[in-house]
Order: sequence, then C-alpha cells, then structure tokens
Amino acid sequence: MVIQKICCIGAGYVGGPTCSVMALKCPDIEITVVDLSKDRIAQWNSNEKLPIFEPGLMEIVQQCRGRNLFFSTDIVSAIRKADLIFISVNTPTKTFGMGKGRAADLKYVEGAARMIAENAEGNKIVVEKSTVPVRAAESIMNILKANNKPNSSYQILSNPEFLAEGTAVQDLLHADRVLIGGEETAEGQEAVRQLSWVYEHWIPSSKVVTMNTWSSELSKLAANAFLAQRISSINSLSAVCEATGADVSEVARAVGLDTRIGPKFLQASVGFGGSCFQKDILNLVYICECLNLPHVAAYWQQVIDMNEYQKSRFAEKVVSSLFNTVTDKRIAVLGFAFKKNTGDTRESPAIYVSTHLLAEGAHLHIYDPKVEPHQIVDDLNSSTMDPDIVNRNVVIHSDAYSATKNTHALIVCTEWDEFVTLDYEKIYADMMKPAYIFDGRKILDHDFLQNLGFHVQTIGKKMHRDVARAWGCFFLLVLGSIPAVSNMGVI
Ligand code: NAD
Ligand code: UDX
Repeated sequence: MVIQKICCIGAGYVGGPTCSVMALKCPDIEITVVDLSKDRIAQWNSNEKLPIFEPGLMEIVQQCRGRNLFFSTDIVSAIRKADLIFISVNTPTKTFGMGKGRAADLKYVEGAARMIAENAEGNKIVVEKSTVPVRAAESIMNILKANNKPNSSYQILSNPEFLAEGTAVQDLLHADRVLIGGEETAEGQEAVRQLSWVYEHWIPSSKVVTMNTWSSELSKLAANAFLAQRISSINSLSAVCEATGADVSEVARAVGLDTRIGPKFLQASVGFGGSCFQKDILNLVYICECLNLPHVAAYWQQVIDMNEYQKSRFAEKVVSSLFNTVTDKRIAVLGFAFKKNTGDTRESPAIYVSTHLLAEGAHLHIYDPKVEPHQIVDDLNSSTMDPDIVNRNVVIHSDAYSATKNTHALIVCTEWDEFVTLDYEKIYADMMKPAYIFDGRKILDHDFLQNLGFHVQTIGKKMHRDVARAWGCFFLLVLGSIPAVSNMGVI
C-alpha cells in the first residue's frame, strides 16, 4: 500500500501546522484535517485569520488549501477514505475523578478511536500524534478491536510531535528527529515504513528514528520533562542569585558553555507556561505513582513545584517592592501569552501573576500583541472565579503606551520583541512616580531604564542600587546586630 490519503482528527496547534507542512512537502498526498468544532474549521478555511497564530503558517495554508490540504467537519468521510489517520486531539490534565489534577484525560483520544472504529473499512494505519501516557496505544487498539468491522484491520503507531509554539513551522520543516514507534511484527514494521516514507519527503531518513511503541510514547514525556527540568534548575538558581548578587545570565552562560550541557533552555524567567510541560510532567508523575515508583514521582514533581515557587516569588516581589501593597494601584501587564510569537495563553505565567495582583486589590492594564481580549478575560475569570473583580479591575489595551499610561508599575510577562524597543523615556514620563519595572523575561536594558529613573527589578539579578544595601543587611544579620528584615525592596 502507498499512502495516498491522510486524515488528521484534531485541527489544533499540532494538527493544523503539522498537516499544513506535510501537505506542502507531499503534493502527492491528499490531507484532510477534521475537527468537531465548526468555528475552528471555518477559521482554518478563512483568508483573514487562522485559529492560531504561527509565523509563516498562513502562507503555507494559502498555498496548499484546496490543492491537497482540506479542513472539514465531515469526520466520517475523511476517516473512510484515508489510508492513514492521525489522532491529534487534546489530552488535558483530568479535572475530576481518578487521577484528578495529574493524569491525562484520554476522553478525546477515546472519542476519536471510537469514531474510527465505527466508520473505517479496510486496512488503516492509526497514528497517535497526541501526547499520551505509556501504553495508550494498547487502549486505542482495544477500542478498535472491540468494535472491529469484519472487513477492517488496523496498525497503531506512536508518532509524538516535538514542535514548539511560535516556531512550529520551522520546527516541522527542520525537525531534529521524527519518532515512530510500532509493533515489532511484520505488519507493524510495514506500517512504520509507510509513515517513514511520508516524512522522508522532506526529513532526511537518518533523522527518522524508529523504536518500539512504548519507548516512543515515553520518549515524548521524557523530552518535555528534561526541557522543563532545565528551566526549573536555572530558575532555582535565579533565587540564589537574587539573594547573593550573582547574575543568573552569567551563571547560565558559564554553565551552558560546557558542551555536555549546551546553552539552550537556560533562560531564567517568571516560570514556564504552555499547554505541554506541566500537563506532561504531571502525567509522568501519575504514571510513576501507579507503577509504585514514588521516588521517581517525587523527583519529577519537584520540577513543577519549583515552577510554582518561581511564579509566586515573582508576584510577591512585585507586591513587596511596591511598599507591600498594590491595593488600588494601577499596574500594566505587558504580554499575556505563555511565550512570544503565539496567541496561546494555556498555563501562561501571566495568568498567575495577574490573578495574584487582582487578589491584592490591584487594577490591571493588560496588553498583548496577539492574545484576543476575550481570551484574557476568560482566563482571569476562570482563575479568580469572580467575574466582578475582572469587570471592575481589568482593562485590556491595544498598545503598550496606553496600557502603561498613569500606572505605578509595569510588568513584562512575555518576551515579545516589540517590548524591547518601546520608547521607555515616553513611558516613564507618562507613569506615576516612583515608576517601577518588573522584567519577568530579562529582555530589557536595565541600566538604561535605571538611568531614566525607573526602579527596576528582574529575575536572577539584584539591581545595582539594591546590591550594596542587601549585602549590608546580610552582614548585619550574620553579625546578629539587627533583627531580621523581611522586605529588602528598595525605593
Ligand atoms: P488543541 O486543543 O489545540 O487541539 C485539539 C483539537 O482536537 C481541538 O480543536 C478539538 O476540538 C479537537 N477534537 C477533540 N476531540 C475530537 C474528536 N473526537 N474529533 C474531532 N476533533 C476533536 O490541542 P493541541 O495543542 O493541538 O494538542 C494536541 C495534542 O498534541 C495534545 O496531546 C498535546 O499534548 C500534543 N502536543 C501539543 C503541542 C503544542 O505545542 N500545543 C506540541 C506537541 C504535542
Ligand atoms: C514545548 C516543547 O519545547 C516542545 O518540544 C513540545 O512539543 C511542546 O512543549 P512549547 O510549550 O510550545 O513547547 O514552548 P517552549 O519553547 O518549550 O516554552 C515553554 C515555556 O518555557 C514558555 O513559557 C517559555 O517562555 C519557557 N521557557 C523556555 C523559559 O522560561 N526558559 C527557557 O529557557 C525556555
């Protein structure tokens, strides 16, 4: 069999970009991306705005759509005619029941598997593209087999996706590796060859790595756990830097120059966000607990705990620096997405910081270049659980200058490039005094801002004018000559 038609169930951040790039690189294959959501599919078919923002994606969609790339809500016919079906649906953390708050909720994967079982005829290759717990392929196979039509047969493959949001197109075009896990039977290996052939339209065969299904499933969780662990490691050291006068950027540079360690993913920040890291590590923790491996579970749980600590440390620093109260103060929040070049806010640290400040009585003025205003309001409503607070105390702005005008403090929560080149002289002139900047992404020129008159706080670095006083306090404390002071913030 040669793959001629592909169906992808789930037109989200993974299904949309992955199939668009696949359609671009495989003009001989017809690809249909299907979703339950009519709105999402309508947006994928629109020329104005796709449902997700990804640099370079619109151009590819416009080139392929209607040629060999289709977006549809007709899931049944797409399944029927496909030789290969990707399951690319969401696998969020369970919010209730067994494993609540940790286990992956596989209801959407199960729903997709049932739709395949009900509608597929002939031989189909079913590919897990969603991130799933180890041995999820077995559950999918059980559903397919239990509902098997007499004339149908399946091979299940694991093919986890490693793209990062904001760079999805480049990540897909130049993947470090493509992972394919399959059964070690002749039929299983033939299915692996078929999927490899699809990727080899543009990925060198040396980068298409094949392995057993369970290794492939676990490798995805492992990769995300390792990446997040690096961020939590450097963030933990950022707290030491702030307490000692070391600079976390210098420490990260020194550590990353060791070729065994490497420089990537050592950027200290307000904390990691995104739909994957927390969810996938919690899933790994849950799996370890179920496997009676409490030490392994506790080890990975610490990566999440450190991230929570980092977010709360940052939010508390804002309050303590502003004379221990933000009640009725106006604070600008620049950036709401979980990272730059995406409009995605899932698990964004900006939600945590904003909610913390709202609980302290602050008035927030929020601006993000790509996040829709209703998304910001929805996120804050679901986290404060009190729409009244959000209605009264949150204003969404369409540019950074109006968001910062007349505010007491400005917080950078996302590292958007445009925040680096803002006219801070103008911003300073328009802010209340003393004017504070809290750079949660370490992207601004702190010396320049201090010279303008701003009081600057950032992650992993004590600012010059704070250092002398902090060390003075430290030595005095050591000498036991003064009582402990809890707030070292400097006016
Ligand atoms: P998403 O929420 O953006 O998209 C999932 C889509 O699936 C939604 O549009 C939903 O309507 C649709 N869907 C759910 N059940 C369906 C069904 N039965 N039939 C048709 N459509 C259905 O999710 P995402 O961010 O694209 O993530 C998908 C998977 O990929 C997850 O397992 C995630 O962990 C993994 N992943 C995500 C990323 C990322 O950067 N977002 C990267 C790598 C892996
Ligand atoms: C991640 C993985 O990188 C990707 O391989 C996987 O497929 C999905 O999950 P994503 O969440 O889209 O991708 O973005 P990523 O670039 O990994 O950033 C995640 C979070 O970590 C962001 O909030 C980012 O700002 C933060 N981060 C990243 C840091 O705080 N410091 C860093 O050095 C790198």
